[in-house]
Amino acid sequence: MSYQIAIDGPAGAGKSTVARKVAQKRGYIYVDTGAMYRAMALFLLNQGVKPGDTAAIEEKCVEADISIRYEDGEQVVLLNGENVNGLIRTEEVGNMASRHTSPNPRVRERLTALQKELASTNDVVMDGRDIGTCVLPDADVKVYLTASAKVRAARRCEELRAKGEECDLSKIEEDIIIRDRQDMNREIAPLKQAEDAVLIDSSHMDIEEVVQAILNLCKEGVQ
Ligand code: DC
Repeated sequence: MSYQIAIDGPAGAGKSTVARKVAQKRGYIYVDTGAMYRAMALFLLNQGVKPGDTAAIEEKCVEADISIRYEDGEQVVLLNGENVNGLIRTEEVGNMASRHTSPNPRVRERLTALQKELASTNDVVMDGRDIGTCVLPDADVKVYLTASAKVRAARRCEELRAKGEECDLSKIEEDIIIRDRQDMNREIAPLKQAEDAVLIDSSHMDIEEVVQAILNLCKEGVQ
């Protein structure tokens, strides 16, 4: 049986950084499921699908072949065979993924099947919004990682400034609140804490503290 660590939570809580580190420490693969939704969103945009056109999304999504492979331990997302890691982190793709792609049941069906398959044949740390609730309901460890919107916005701002980009803190906080609302209120697989998930609020914790807290859960065999 593979060992499964599920980490869910809102955007900007530090899931991917933490999940990557936990995976390294345990020697597992890290599966970033948000990147798969982003790759699907990119595909739909490239196909000229208009954001609100549900019929076109349902028709076209079956033509996207999304898979992942690992290069030097890093996840590479392949969209119809092409590495799209460098193309999926834009605002446009993020917005398409959040508002029009991830709420679609056919899209979710396809990507969830792929995620389940990866976790059945590999020890994984998988992060997303519905991992503990839908994708891996029997995961060995489930974590719901969150932080206040203010703290998440400040972290995002810091990241942007480090890259030399400008940022408007209150606009970023507003966007984070809107994104949370979209992810939490959609009909299918909304973002929510699984009943058996451990809540970690990272507002006043650094990355290493969160990583250690999750590693401790693995040792304790907490589910
Ligand atoms: O984590 P992220 O920002 O890269 O995710 C992109 C979008 O995909 C986000 O709006 C939420 C959605 N998503 C989802 O619905 N289910 C997942 N398991 C992962 C991401």
